[in-house]
Formats: sequence, C-alpha cells, structure tokens
Amino acid sequence: MTDGPERPRPEDIEEEDLYVVGQRLPEPQEVRDRVVAAAAVLTAVGGLAFGVGMLVGAPRTVYGGGLALALLALAYGFHRYFRGEYPEIVAIEPRPGVGAEDEEEPYGDVPKAPRRSFLGWLLAGAAGVLGLSFAAPVASLGPAPGDALRRTLWREGARVVTGGGRPVRPEDIEPGSIVTAWPEDAIGHERSAVIVIRLQARGPEPPTNPDWVIDEMVVAYSKICTHAGCPVGLFREVDDSLFCPCHQATFDVARAAEPVFGPAPRPLPQLPLGLDDDGALVALGDFHEPVGPGYGWLQRAREDIPLDGEAGERS
Ligand code: FES
Repeated sequence: MTDGPERPRPEDIEEEDLYVVGQRLPEPQEVRDRVVAAAAVLTAVGGLAFGVGMLVGAPRTVYGGGLALALLALAYGFHRYFRGEYPEIVAIEPRPGVGAEDEEEPYGDVPKAPRRSFLGWLLAGAAGVLGLSFAAPVASLGPAPGDALRRTLWREGARVVTGGGRPVRPEDIEPGSIVTAWPEDAIGHERSAVIVIRLQARGPEPPTNPDWVIDEMVVAYSKICTHAGCPVGLFREVDDSLFCPCHQATFDVARAAEPVFGPAPRPLPQLPLGLDDDGALVALGDFHEPVGPGYGWLQRAREDIPLDGEAGERS
C-alpha cells in the first residue's frame, strides 16, 4: 500500500470531502491478463489429465495431480481476475448523522479497471473442461453388474469338490462333520463356497427342502454369513448348529439353516444337491436366493429372483 497524503484531523474534514490516505494501484493490465490466461490453460490441462487419466487407468498420482493442479489454477485464476477489478483505496469520508440519506457511496466515483472480456470466457471455458472431466469417474465404473451379485457359479450338474479338487461323496462325510466345497470349475470362488454337512442330532425338518437332501442327512448351505459376509465355519454336532465367528450368529442346520441367535437376518441359502452317475455330489442348480448379507435390495431380490426349473422352486 503506498502512502497517501497526511491523515487530516476529523474537525478539518468538510462534509463533501473524500480524503485518500492510501492506495494500491492495480498491476499492469498485461501482467494480470497473462497470469489469468496461464491459470485458465493450466486448469484445462489439469482437467484433461484428470479425465483422460481416469479413463485409461493411469496411476493415481497422474490423475490426482491433474485434479489438484486444475482446482488450484482455477481458484488462483478467479482470484487474480476479480482482484484487479478495482484499485485498492483507503479513504476517509465524513459520515452524516444517523438517519440521513447515503447520497453517494465512498467509492462511487472510482472507475473499474478495464478488463478484457475474453479472459472471462477463457476462465469459464477452463472451468467447463474441468467440469466435463468429472464425468470420467462415472465412466470408469464400468458396466453395471446386472444380476451378477444375485448369482453364484453353481450350475446344474456342477460337481461339488473340495479345495483340492476331490469330488465329495456322501459316504465321505462322517456324521456330525462338515466339508467346505466349491463348484468343480470355480474352486476358491468366495460367493460360491458351501458347507456340506451330514446331520447327526436329528434329521432335516421343514422348511428344509427335502428334495435337496442326500442320504436323508446330507445338506449343503452357503458358507457366506447373511449378516456381514464372514465365512461360517464352526459346527456343533450335538444340536446341528453352525456358528459365524464374527458376531456369533447361530444357524439351525436341521431347519433350513434358520438363524436362532445373533444378528443374521435370514437363513443361509440351501444348495440344491443331487448325485451324478458316479455317486458324487452335484448341484441341481444355483441357490434359490442371493447369498451373503441381507441388505435392502438383496432382501427384495430374494422375493423377485427368477428361478430355473424344478431345482429352483422355493420350499
Ligand atoms: S458376519 Fe456373521 S454374524 Fe456377523
């Protein structure tokens, strides 16, 4: 701020006077224009780096750096564009009494600094490029999942095998024991994991689907807990109960794996089981309802999911 004339005493100021006591003149027009134009170009370049980087899967430092550059340059560009609008002046003006009309603003006669209109359009265009680049994260989400979250990889005729690829036969399962298994061509697929159990304490009871029980005592259920998706893996043979170790949900295996304790909102889905010509366990189709946590849309999907043939009929 440059020094103005010496500050006058209040009693010396006439009512119509406006005394400038300090002022900072705007920097030269060419300098400001170049700074604002450079900020607009950097904004557009950063926005393009962000959008294109997201679309082509560039490293995070590339598109993140582009976004940071664009936002900083845009903010600085607007700041410099509007800061030069008026010269900065500190002045003293006598105030009329309370209730008097303010006939004239103190800076009413101060002219605006001239401004080239194309700079405003340049900044607006750069902001538009940056705005368009925000469509890239949406496009990078990829195709909609469709019903992939409702389905697993169990298909009619898929062999039930252990993690080592050995087909599971009913006679291999001791009473009161469990085997974790997958479809033969999808070993290790999380959502398709099942627990095959030979009941011991009592036989299957409604609402268990008896058509999906082998040897009158062998059943299979999804291994994914319907509370928060932990793998259910603890079995208590004295009362045929499955436990989830995460929050102690307890499922009654003899009664369609209905939850009898804990936070699980619905039963573990039962896998339709059958036998192939070699006497090994096979699936008769996919689960009859979505596996995993029972959040809102999954709960609705449980009611709406289309079923495939007899194997998919609800009990
Ligand atoms: S995830 Fe199984 S009880 Fe919470």
